[in-house]
Amino acid sequence: MPKKSKIHKKVKKAKVVVKKQRATRPPLEKGKVRVFQTLRGMKDILPGEGKYWGFIKRKAESFADNYGYDLIETPILEETSLFNRAVGSETDIVSKEMFSFVDQGGENICLRPEATASIARSYVQHGMVNLPQPVKFFYFGPMFRYDRPQAGRLRLFHQFGFEALGEGQPIIDAEIIFMCFNLLSDLGLKVNVQINSIGCPRCRESYKTKLVNYYRDRRSSLCEDCKKRLVKNPLRLFDCKEEGCAPLKEEAPQIVDYLCEDCKNHFVQVLEYLDEAGVPYNLNPQLVRGLDYYTRTVFEFFQEEIAGDGGAKQDALGGGGRYDNLVETIGGRPTPACGAALGIERIILKIKETNANVPALPAPEIFLAQLGEQARKKSFSLIEDLRRAGFYISHGLTKDGLKKQLEIANRLGAKYALLLGQKEVLDGTIIIRDMEGGAQEIVDLNRVIQEMKKKLTNGKIANNV
Ligand code: HAM
Repeated sequence: MPKKSKIHKKVKKAKVVVKKQRATRPPLEKGKVRVFQTLRGMKDILPGEGKYWGFIKRKAESFADNYGYDLIETPILEETSLFNRAVGSETDIVSKEMFSFVDQGGENICLRPEATASIARSYVQHGMVNLPQPVKFFYFGPMFRYDRPQAGRLRLFHQFGFEALGEGQPIIDAEIIFMCFNLLSDLGLKVNVQINSIGCPRCRESYKTKLVNYYRDRRSSLCEDCKKRLVKNPLRLFDCKEEGCAPLKEEAPQIVDYLCEDCKNHFVQVLEYLDEAGVPYNLNPQLVRGLDYYTRTVFEFFQEEIAGDGGAKQDALGGGGRYDNLVETIGGRPTPACGAALGIERIILKIKETNANVPALPAPEIFLAQLGEQARKKSFSLIEDLRRAGFYISHGLTKDGLKKQLEIANRLGAKYALLLGQKEVLDGTIIIRDMEGGAQEIVDLNRVIQEMKKKLTNGKIANNV
């Protein structure tokens, strides 16, 4: 019973919060229906944005295919305690930004703030340790963090990412960094990598002692959050965004000076691979990343121009690192692993800011315009025949006037229009109109596919997608 009463208390508390939020909405005039809005920090992806999303998704998928990262989809809802354990209860993500709630069954669940913990959970749950290692995953999907919304910082945002579980070699760290660097370059962005090593739990212990001693003498200059961090999780002192704490971070002892021999060798090898591949990077001793599961290599990607300032004035486009202890932390066998995730909204912001070249959505090859009910019926199945034959086709089935339909064909940039009216249906013909020159010819309706193949070949016909 005590369990139930605890849950009831939580639900009661949640209700109070909801009531408070509702109270902040302007009162509704009697008899009026409220126009609903997206929640704060959440956005609709609207028409016109599709070309950016499609461009990034296609590119990311092609990199995943080429580098052998297989698609994984995990549920958006998970047990809250998965992230408490994996990401760490003292991190900002877990302590301040979780969308967590008690469901109807009394279970404490949350909208995932990130995907690495879920993928590690899936790896353990499905016994993937028995597959040939490393098991390489690719994902693309929404994440949720109750952060203060601002440009590039949303409560609902999207990531795509790569995770390689079951391999501890430094070449994997380098491969993931190299792959993300190339991907961002292919998207038209010039990026710089910030990199650091935060060692393993063994070497981190002696470093933590040094760090705590350093900060203890300066405790009075710390913000309230940092005072707590100093006691609970000193490495998180580097996550602080308060200006007052920045000078202390600058002067703090650096973890790279405390790495054990194995961690040092690992880091040197990662850097050597990056040198070999010509990936530009900056060593950033303050980079510890805001998640507790990392070991050894950690890295972030920044737009090149501002990267020189340590990335302090801008948000990272992506980040990741090695997490050799995560699988064991959540109940699996010891499994070294490494991964990275990139933020899609931030990438789109940068693509727009830098006017990077984004291919427009492909124009239809054929636009089918019809006139009269019989022609509309005939067009209905003809469109599908043309699509199956491999053409990229659009149509004006809901429109009545021919002029209007040809205007649409023009706007869409269709190469050819097929015109089907009452007369053509009776004759068993169709008109092919070259949209550029305006030339028209009448062909047998049964031969329209062959005729269009001849015209549109130039060898290739658009793939059906
Ligand atoms: P993260 O640094 O928390 O790492 O997030 C990765 C990227 O997601 C960020 O660099 C940023 O582009 C984007 N992002 C994060 N929070 C927001 C936000 N509130 N609004 C918009 N974009 C955001 C992770 O999530 C780790 N799971 C990465 C990883 C994979 N480590 C190992 N494997």
